[in-house]
Amino acid sequence: MAAQGLIGIVLAGGLGSRLSPLTRVTNKHLLPVYDRPMIYYPIETLAQAGIRDILLVTGGNNAGDFLRLLGNGRDFGLSHLDYVYQEGEGGIAAALSLARYYAQGKRMVVILGDNIIADDITPHVERFAQQERGAKILLKEVDDPQRFGVAELAEDRVVGIEEKPQRPKTRYAVTGIYMYDDQVFGIIDRLAPSQRGELEITDVNNAYIGWGQLTFDFLDGWWTDAGTFGSLLRANVLVARQRDMPLPPGVPGSGPEAGA
Ligand code: G1P
Repeated sequence: MAAQGLIGIVLAGGLGSRLSPLTRVTNKHLLPVYDRPMIYYPIETLAQAGIRDILLVTGGNNAGDFLRLLGNGRDFGLSHLDYVYQEGEGGIAAALSLARYYAQGKRMVVILGDNIIADDITPHVERFAQQERGAKILLKEVDDPQRFGVAELAEDRVVGIEEKPQRPKTRYAVTGIYMYDDQVFGIIDRLAPSQRGELEITDVNNAYIGWGQLTFDFLDGWWTDAGTFGSLLRANVLVARQRDMPLPPGVPGSGPEAGA
């Protein structure tokens, strides 16, 4: 199996402040996306790629709810689902650094808990598994690149990534699915906080670029994050469409009574 030896890491901390007041009494990743809690989707994405050992990083007041919801991960076909608790905030790379003990000597597929995609990532994971060392990111062309990490390409290589640039050089967003070897923890140790006071995953990826060890693939199908009201709504609609869910009666576009 392609994913043999690879572990999965789901990052599901943060305050979710862009979704307040939805996130005042719960964690963003427990909010519904169509018919399931958001956190189901990234776990299913990893499980579909053959990953059987997953570490979930979360924090805040609702960490226990993940355990109640997900238990030992058996429902997803996992062998192990483990949890670590993040004290406070610190950015994506700070959350990932908590996986150090779990991931020692291993390669990992990291996914942000609010990233939802249509594709099966197995082919990308297989290519990463064949890579001698380093990292792989997945890119997707978008209309609003300034919301994301944006990759600059030259001769089929990523030559740099800018985090939320005002004037993006391309429309290639860096999705929240990252594949790393365990050099990643040494890189995180050397990071300085960004202007917004976070350890940025973009700085991690740029370090791999500096070593000539970052590869990339494009995602074919749709991809969305779900951390803002607009993207959460889009995630709901995309998932419902993927399931061929007919719009309920009374919703415009749903049938003869539509728009009445
Ligand atoms: C984060 C990363 C960004 C990436 C995005 C994908 O942004 O910093 O590089 O493109 O996830 O969802 P955030 O969701 O923290 O704004």
